Amino acid sequence: MEKILMVCLGNICRSPMAEGIMQSKIDKYKIDAFVDSCGTAAYHVGEMPDRRAVSTLKAYDIDISHLRGRQFVVDDFDNFDHIYVMDEQNYSNVMRKSRHQKDRDKVSMIMNELYKNGNIDVSDPYYGGINGFESTYEMLDQATEIIAQKLSKE
Ligand code: 4NP
Repeated sequence: MEKILMVCLGNICRSPMAEGIMQSKIDKYKIDAFVDSCGTAAYHVGEMPDRRAVSTLKAYDIDISHLRGRQFVVDDFDNFDHIYVMDEQNYSNVMRKSRHQKDRDKVSMIMNELYKNGNIDVSDPYYGGINGFESTYEMLDQATEIIAQKLSKE
């Protein structure tokens, strides 16, 4: 079983959305995979996702209201096969905690699934309006679709 970790800064907007969308594709395509999410920062540990993230996904029949924030830990390198980060800041924060090349090989920016080596950020929607969450959804839906297709072939 492939284990996938979605990582952002606070674990209340982008990465729980990525987890929920990925889980819906795992269910839809009956993929043998596990998905979780976390944040590099501790600000929102134990909190549920931002209400704008919850309501944006509810419109697509995806429920993420049961998720709770947790912080990235070094053990995540051992417990997951793929670590997808949302932006370059998350990338450097995770890479800084890596112990060896095997850890680093697991880490990539999620939008590189669509635009190889593009290093495009899923920008932080936290300080913007609801439209930002809609574009977060669109980006993550496309990226997780590619991940799902790859996992289906494995
Ligand atoms: P996320 O968004 O990283 O997509 O969960 C953020 C949520 C909260 C904060 C920053 C980013 N914050 O600074 O509290």
